[in-house]
Amino acid sequence: MADSETLHSDSNSRGIAADLARAADALETMQASGELAPVVTVAPASPNVPPALFGAGGPMLKRFDESTVASRKGSTAPSPPPSVKGIGKKVAKPDYSEQKIVVAMVGLPARGKSYLSNKLMIYLRWLEYDVKVFNVGQLRRTKARQKAQKLGVKENHNAEFFSHSNAQATQSRDSLAEESLEMLIKWLKEGGNVGIHDATNSTKSRRAKIEARLAKEKGMILIFLESLCDDPAVIAANVELKVSQGDPDYKDMSPDEARKDFLRRINEYEKVYETITEPHLSYLRIKNVGEEVTMSRINGYLSSRIAFYLMNLHIRPRNIFFSRHGESQYNVEGKIGGDSLLSLRGMQYAKALPALITDNIGEKPLTVWTSTLKRTIQTAQYLPYTKLTWKSLDELDAGVCDGMTYEEIEQAYPDDYANRDEDKFNYRYRGGESYRDVVVRLEPVIMELERQENILIIGHQAILRCLYAYFHHLPQADLPYIKIPLHTVIKLTPKAYGCDEERYTLPINAVDTHRPKPKAAKQPNVHPTTQRIYYVEEEVKTSA
Ligand code: SIN
Repeated sequence: MADSETLHSDSNSRGIAADLARAADALETMQASGELAPVVTVAPASPNVPPALFGAGGPMLKRFDESTVASRKGSTAPSPPPSVKGIGKKVAKPDYSEQKIVVAMVGLPARGKSYLSNKLMIYLRWLEYDVKVFNVGQLRRTKARQKAQKLGVKENHNAEFFSHSNAQATQSRDSLAEESLEMLIKWLKEGGNVGIHDATNSTKSRRAKIEARLAKEKGMILIFLESLCDDPAVIAANVELKVSQGDPDYKDMSPDEARKDFLRRINEYEKVYETITEPHLSYLRIKNVGEEVTMSRINGYLSSRIAFYLMNLHIRPRNIFFSRHGESQYNVEGKIGGDSLLSLRGMQYAKALPALITDNIGEKPLTVWTSTLKRTIQTAQYLPYTKLTWKSLDELDAGVCDGMTYEEIEQAYPDDYANRDEDKFNYRYRGGESYRDVVVRLEPVIMELERQENILIIGHQAILRCLYAYFHHLPQADLPYIKIPLHTVIKLTPKAYGCDEERYTLPINAVDTHRPKPKAAKQPNVHPTTQRIYYVEEEVKTSA
């Protein structure tokens, strides 16, 4: 993972040389004054490849690390010594407490509002913002269910309930929307960052009410997100999803009756629908998910990031394939990191891969992404598709531990080893990275993956874990333990609410590099689901 090429090819190399000379002088002075431990000479891994001066596994890094060895002695997890701040220990989650954004959805039923809400929530949660969707339909259903259970009163939520000429129902729907907004505001005040109000909010007066309510809250930003859709195929697919995925509104109806009723409901909303034209509002209008985007008054870092993400989404059918590189020489030796070539079995995998991928993809276009490391480029070499190399896809940088076996790390850095086992997501290697650092550097990759169609990523264990966790919406604590075995292709098919998954393991033996979660009674289990959730019971108190 050394960056020697980058250093040497830099056009500013003269400036860098001067910086290095200054750093070397400073080191000498520190050494002379006894501030720095004696130099430990580290033999390069191969006589032909000198390690980078400052890179992972390089002599400078090892030398700095040696200098702090005394302060590391005697510490035990979970309170590592304050050696170099943020390095070689657990690094706390960034403080996002100042971020308070309300994203209020706007749109007719079956226009993808819940899809966009869900995607945005998953993306921001992956980046560790606290995000929650407040779905007014869910609140209505949950309350109606509780009312039926407690009071035996059964409300009828057929199309008539959604008619604007039904004054009583309109009032009931308005108060549900307001109650849901109150729950959202309370949650933001308790520490949340982005609350998504998933409702139709389809009239100017409803939006004005939201705006007036939020004006009373200091520091809360309001963005409307309108989802327009005039593609009959997409609308029909959304209607089918509603009818077929067990929406409780339709549990007592046949699919045909449910379909007719839902179309009547849409028609009731259409009669009063007003697209956003209020010039003073902050809003984002998305037409046919990705076809056309209008943006007005979107300012600030997180708001712009939200807008940028939503602009890149599309719903065209596609597959995302993940494969680790074939077994490498380092894998066989039990070493982590490095830039070794493939083993013989790894080469067999590289040769077998094209048939597996072409069988699956057929004539459809596909682009292959690799890291800049030799083992992924070698694995991709026989694939007959366009290939791109991403530095961001390079394996998690193990810093001073690069090129060591886990046993060697445990011996040389026992505290670090314990800290990593204790909290693998937050542990940052000395001079290297944590899983969190990797998530941050993978953000542009996610953005591009969302924009693209069929992609095969030939990557590394930690990298693919981070990407996989995004697509299956898995918690950060479980992320470092996701099983991504060698010689296996994972095929993801994005759906409205999650991804379908198939795994193909080629019959070519490889070492097992998975280390289970230590001391955990239960290993993290991946349960991919594409089901929409219709009840969030524990949130709601019955006021009926
Ligand atoms: C619903 O109750 O299903 C949606 C309510 C709304 O936002 O109009």
